[in-house]
Amino acid sequence: MTVRETYMTSSSLTPREIVSELDKYIIGQEGAKRAVAIALRNRWRRQKVSEELREEIAPKNIIMIGPTGVGKTEIARRLAKLDNSPFLKVEASKFTEVGYVGRDVESMVRDLMELAVNMVKSEEREHVKIKAMEIAEEKMLDILLPRRPSKIALGERDEGADHPEDGVFPAQDVTREKMRRFLRDGKLDDRIVEIEVTDSKGGPMIEILSASGAEDMGVNIKEIFGNLFPKKKKTRNVKVPEALNLLAEEESQKLIDMENVTRTALERVEQSGIIFLDEIDKIVGSESTHGPDVSREGVQRDLLPIVEGSTVNTKYGMIKTDHVLFIAAGAFSNSRPSDLIPELQGRFPIRVELDPLGKEEFIRILTEPHNALVRQYKEMLATEGVEITYEDEAVAEIAEVAAIVNDRTENIGARRLYTVMETLFDEISFDAPDMVEKKVTISAEYVREKLQEIVEDEDLSRYIL
Ligand SMILES: Nc1ncnc2c1ncn2[C@@H]1O[C@H](COP(=O)(O)OP(=O)(O)OP(=O)(O)O)[C@@H](O)[C@H]1O
Ligand SMILES: [Mg+2]
Repeated sequence: MTVRETYMTSSSLTPREIVSELDKYIIGQEGAKRAVAIALRNRWRRQKVSEELREEIAPKNIIMIGPTGVGKTEIARRLAKLDNSPFLKVEASKFTEVGYVGRDVESMVRDLMELAVNMVKSEEREHVKIKAMEIAEEKMLDILLPRRPSKIALGERDEGADHPEDGVFPAQDVTREKMRRFLRDGKLDDRIVEIEVTDSKGGPMIEILSASGAEDMGVNIKEIFGNLFPKKKKTRNVKVPEALNLLAEEESQKLIDMENVTRTALERVEQSGIIFLDEIDKIVGSESTHGPDVSREGVQRDLLPIVEGSTVNTKYGMIKTDHVLFIAAGAFSNSRPSDLIPELQGRFPIRVELDPLGKEEFIRILTEPHNALVRQYKEMLATEGVEITYEDEAVAEIAEVAAIVNDRTENIGARRLYTVMETLFDEISFDAPDMVEKKVTISAEYVREKLQEIVEDEDLSRYIL
């Protein structure tokens, strides 16, 4: 399958299917799931309409509004995985921080492209893996058993060469095949060979140059000057298996057509890239903050052209952001989306609110998702031979504790479950390897015993949970 085909087949899931995939990891939040499912499906639809219309159809960017820890980032992350889309998460607030002054907002497009290139490259590497391994094996056999020029084949000894069998030289192919079998059976794994590999890093001077921030301008100094210098070759003495890997790696570099990779990556970014702008609420407010901070409204203004669609210069070429999907998220506890500058509001036509989570949701989050916490602890401890069983009431008790602590101290949503579980398992986690009784039942009783005291003391729970 060519790279292009992989791209085309990536997201043919229907909205219903997308939601049900998301359901495997995220509990509730139906509204948000629906919205992102539609957005994703719309890109598939857009690919199908006539070319002339395709250019006209802009993505419907989304703002997710909801308190901390209720699944905003998680939804976006899972969505990107489903679709195999290049996905970049950035904190909008980063652009206002000291140290980021001058770091232009456009850098997120460059980062997205960088990510897409790596993504396509590793897919390609998978494709050429077998071929690269084959070539590497031949090269390895050449090293282990140098092909002899004819005069040596006639029977002369060449000193110093690495002879697998000393003395007579049977027909070369037979030896070679024998060697190949040894190699494949791992009989040569302890042998050290000398191989020559290209030093991927350029000279020291180039390193200094490229560290000067030119990267941010979309220029790759190393690429411009890199080819002026001959690629450095380095000889290394390594064991056979590692040598094989190094050779295969080098071969796959040669087999991968970087121009093709770049082209595919660029297309993927432009057609299906997703940028997740987290903490968008942190750039609300016009008062330019103290010191060298970039004013928040300034950041919003900088975002405008990128969200609306503009061309960004990267070292891989110009990238149009017209069809990149932007999903913004924020807690908006002290502000509202309508506090964003009107132009930016208008570019996020879809608003979805996420619900706060309570005990009932926590019970489900603890048990239902594929990566559910109760399962994680169970399997982690199983590696120590400890067998954990949970009573239903125990799970309910954990959920209740999390809900209560969220209520009394700060509501950090589902993240509270992590701290509660960690505290609950503290003793078992520590003792597991030395435990004599390997069967442990987590009962409601046990949960209360471990957590009650902390829950009742507000100060304690503030620090521990
Ligand atoms: N509805 C949910 N279902 C399952 N797990 C959830 C849910 N909400 C949150 N979680 C879990 O809680 C953790 C935090 O969620 P997430 O990162 O999505 O928070 P967020 O809404 O982006 O919060 P913030 O505003 O702080 O960025 C994640 O590890 C996630 O797995
Ligand atoms: Mg988040």
